[in-house]
Amino acid sequence: MNGTESGTGGGAVADPVGADRLVGVVGAGTMGVGVAQCLAEAGHRVVVVDPSEEARSKGPRRLNDGLRTARLLRTRTKGAAPASPAASAPAPGKGPAADVAARISWVPHLSGLDGASFVIECGPERIPVKEAVFKELDAVCPADAVFASCTSAIPVAQLAAYTQRPDRVIGTHFMNPAYLKDAVEVIRGPRTASSTLDATLALLATMGKRGHVVRDAPGFVSNRILMPVVNDAAALLQAGTSDAGTVDKIFEECFGHAMGPLRTADLIGLDTVLDSLHVLLETTGDPRFEPCDLLVDLVRRGECGRKSGQGFYSYTSHGAHGAHGAYESHGSYESYGSRR
Ligand SMILES: NC(=O)c1ccc[n+]([C@@H]2O[C@H](COP(=O)([O-])OP(=O)(O)OC[C@H]3O[C@@H](n4cnc5c(N)ncnc54)[C@H](O)[C@@H]3O)[C@@H](O)[C@H]2O)c1
Repeated sequence: MNGTESGTGGGAVADPVGADRLVGVVGAGTMGVGVAQCLAEAGHRVVVVDPSEEARSKGPRRLNDGLRTARLLRTRTKGAAPASPAASAPAPGKGPAADVAARISWVPHLSGLDGASFVIECGPERIPVKEAVFKELDAVCPADAVFASCTSAIPVAQLAAYTQRPDRVIGTHFMNPAYLKDAVEVIRGPRTASSTLDATLALLATMGKRGHVVRDAPGFVSNRILMPVVNDAAALLQAGTSDAGTVDKIFEECFGHAMGPLRTADLIGLDTVLDSLHVLLETTGDPRFEPCDLLVDLVRRGECGRKSGQGFYSYTSHGAHGAHGAYESHGSYESYGSRR
């Protein structure tokens, strides 16, 4: 078992990774498509639910972009062996892309998850939206299904309280792009059962991913630290202390981070960053999570980062879907501050 242990035991959870189990993904946005890709590459049947027709129609194309990018980068960097693939499942990155795509269906209503044994919720980072989704999932899905959320900041206990199965609710904070990351921050709520945690880690292992387990708190470990850093970096731009490129280079070339905070924020999506700061402010009351004006202004203008082609940087080759296209060519930008 990785990381921090907490919580109590609980009822047995049906094996979510056995043959012919169906995994649901809620939301066909940046994270939902990436998570669906990882699941389907591991051999699972996946149903993705999104009420937006646009998101559903773009989903398969973005999935293909992701498959192409993942195969390219995995081949270049490390090969594709998973930590512990599901029995009879192809290893991530293997098997024809068409076979992977054929394992995924795209539907508009949560009722499409009535046969799911495990659901990964990747809807918007807004508490009222997640509340409505979890309540409906609870009514629709089998009683023993596990609900995992990809939330960036909302405490698992809060999401669990929207259901009659708090022992089967857990946080799985995948990072973007999900198909290129080896690990997931796993959040165990105060009532999450050991069997739910075990089932979650087993499902992640089929995708070749390790889970790093932490206790429940607003923003968990990752975003409790990252979001104020992004906010402070944006405030420094606002004050004219530096341009975005220099801020990021200080983190990348002086500290040795793979990606500076502003480039990271553009990759996450500035709208999602703003929503996460609002959740952190609301759940902690700590004023350091008050979003700076520049961040609010950029989102108001629709400059949400890679996915919109413009954020702290301008992306000149973001292709069919910003995150995927830009990922391959993330040298082609000019930065905020240097262009204004
Ligand atoms: N973007 C990141 O880097 C990142 C990383 C980790 C976690 N997260 C978290 O993952 C979640 C999704 O983020 P994202 O960046 O993919 O957002 P996104 O805006 O790209 O996608 C959200 C999707 O949810 C859909 N949606 C809206 N209402 C819905 C509903 N009622 N039911 C089902 N789908 C609905 C939208 O149509 C959209 O396609 C958020 O909680 C976010 O905080 C994001």
